[in-house]
Amino acid sequence: MSFHTTDPNMLDSWLTIGPASRLKDASQASPYRTKLLGADVLAWSDAGGNPVAMAAGKLLPLQAAYGYLWVCPSTRPAKPLFSFPEYAEPGRRLVDCDGIGVAVSGLRMVENFLDMGHFPYVHASYLGEVPQTEVAPYEVSIDEVADEIWATECRFFQPRTSKSATTGMEVQYRYRVMQPMSAILYKTAFTYPGHMDAIGLFVQPVSEESVIAYCMLAFFDDATPEVDMIAFQHTIFGQDKPILENQRPKRMPLKPGIEIPTRCDATSVAYRRWLMAKGVTYGAIV
Ligand SMILES: [Fe+2]
Repeated sequence: MSFHTTDPNMLDSWLTIGPASRLKDASQASPYRTKLLGADVLAWSDAGGNPVAMAAGKLLPLQAAYGYLWVCPSTRPAKPLFSFPEYAEPGRRLVDCDGIGVAVSGLRMVENFLDMGHFPYVHASYLGEVPQTEVAPYEVSIDEVADEIWATECRFFQPRTSKSATTGMEVQYRYRVMQPMSAILYKTAFTYPGHMDAIGLFVQPVSEESVIAYCMLAFFDDATPEVDMIAFQHTIFGQDKPILENQRPKRMPLKPGIEIPTRCDATSVAYRRWLMAKGVTYGAIV
């Protein structure tokens, strides 16, 4: 079965099919199997140890980057995979939190990741707390060269910003959207306040209304056991999951005015406009 879309924003893009570690025990006879854009994808390492991916009997361009596997469904990538310089920056600890399945459009998944307004309600005692619910003004800009969205100068009081946090603090945030379904969040490192941890969100669109949302950490944290860092992220994602799965419609309306803008913050508006300008249809209502 081939990919269930004609949207070039998905077909000509590098999309993740999961962590590179999935190929550890995969062979052509017993491949790693997953779904992307409604199609079955098989992947394995060939005799030379090179990763191979196939869908509908055709080989797909595949690269391993940032701990993850990326394929281009159309085999004609429009541009190189986005950069993630923090992944290779000395002093950072890389922790793969793997993925969580969520029955929602990948666009809503990313929009939720960009939304600070839900912290005190959905992530109470962790990323926010009533009555400190105000989202202070921040800057949103488009990097025209890289075609990415940046939200900068964001800040929010957080009771417990990460596993290593022992007290509440005002946390600085920056968001970067590199692709319709990939984003990175930068936030103050609790144990190194002059530095910013990076959290990569890589969304695998399984179908228009279901995803696997993967999370890769590049943190300044020498102390917290890896299992605790992963558990913290899963706690946060586990709080988002039921909220996301109860959203109706599951796909994201892009035309202004169609959806009551309950999350009408500047990043969300910029994200929806950016998607509409690109003509994104997969996971969207246009
Ligand atoms: Fe959340």
